[in-house]
Amino acid sequence: MRGIRRITPAPSLVETGLWHSIMLKRLSSADRIPVAKTSIGRGLPSTDGNVRAKGKELALDHLHLSFGERAVLRDLNLTVPAGQFVAIVGRSGVGKSSLMRLIVGLDKPTSGTVSIDGNPVRGLQKSVKLLFQDARLLPWQTVLSNVGIARTPGWREAAMTALRDVGLAERHGEWPAVLSGGQRQRVALARVLVGEPNVLLLDEPFGALDALTRADMHVLLEKLWLRERFTTILITHDVAEAVALADRVVVMRDGRVAFDVDVSADRPRQRTDRDLAALQERILREV
Ligand SMILES: Nc1ncnc2c1ncn2[C@@H]1O[C@H](COP(=O)(O)OP(=O)(O)OP(=O)(O)O)[C@@H](O)[C@H]1O
Ligand SMILES: [Mg+2]
Repeated sequence: MRGIRRITPAPSLVETGLWHSIMLKRLSSADRIPVAKTSIGRGLPSTDGNVRAKGKELALDHLHLSFGERAVLRDLNLTVPAGQFVAIVGRSGVGKSSLMRLIVGLDKPTSGTVSIDGNPVRGLQKSVKLLFQDARLLPWQTVLSNVGIARTPGWREAAMTALRDVGLAERHGEWPAVLSGGQRQRVALARVLVGEPNVLLLDEPFGALDALTRADMHVLLEKLWLRERFTTILITHDVAEAVALADRVVVMRDGRVAFDVDVSADRPRQRTDRDLAALQERILREV
């Protein structure tokens, strides 16, 4: 009988969804690399209660990235203080996802450096977790096993805690296939939370969700961020989403930071806020 060989990726790669990226990379022949710079220091918004202050400072310094002849990032500079929530917006193909791969250490810049708390990134970073638009769950593993995929000591308890955080504890024994898209994305969020990230990268994580589910995810993410204070980078095409969630919105254009603005409105933010609406307009003009 011919056996079916299932490729089981390393848990550390699966937990961030990076396995898929690596598989895609293997399918492409492209070489890579690059970097650029900008430095803006801002304080954290005030907060009270049980805050864990997990965030680390992220510095992107003179980043250049080229794929062969194509220059994607051209002297991109950005400093994100520990715990800050930054939204990045920019047109399709401007290099947002490529930038995320540099930050997590999956790719190397052509030149320039990515540093986390002053330490240059070389290779995959355990302190950085990446959440994608699709949940990338393993269909042959239960919800609980997907969340605890790293299988570190005490993983079951940690995974249950994370599932509780995203409101899915009672679904822990089910298969990914029976969950809705929004629920799958919450499982994927639980999987990154279990890794206790210091830097959380969100690459259009809500893009495929309907408006109501999206709004629920915004509330959930803001709640978790206020509690954990991981440094957060959210890539989104939705400028309303950017100003609703972020402390700061950065527009990428021509491979660099073209516009950078603080969002100082109190939380939770009101979508009817006129200042936010004006800010959205301003940002849209820059994209
Ligand atoms: N492995 C690769 N080999 C060659 N070119 C690549 C590779 N990965 C990305 N690119 C190119 O780099 C550019 C930026 O791609 P990237 O995926 O970072 O854009 P993006 O801003 O995330 O776009 P979108 O908003 O559509 O997701 C594109 O022109 C893309 O074709
Ligand atoms: Mg992208």
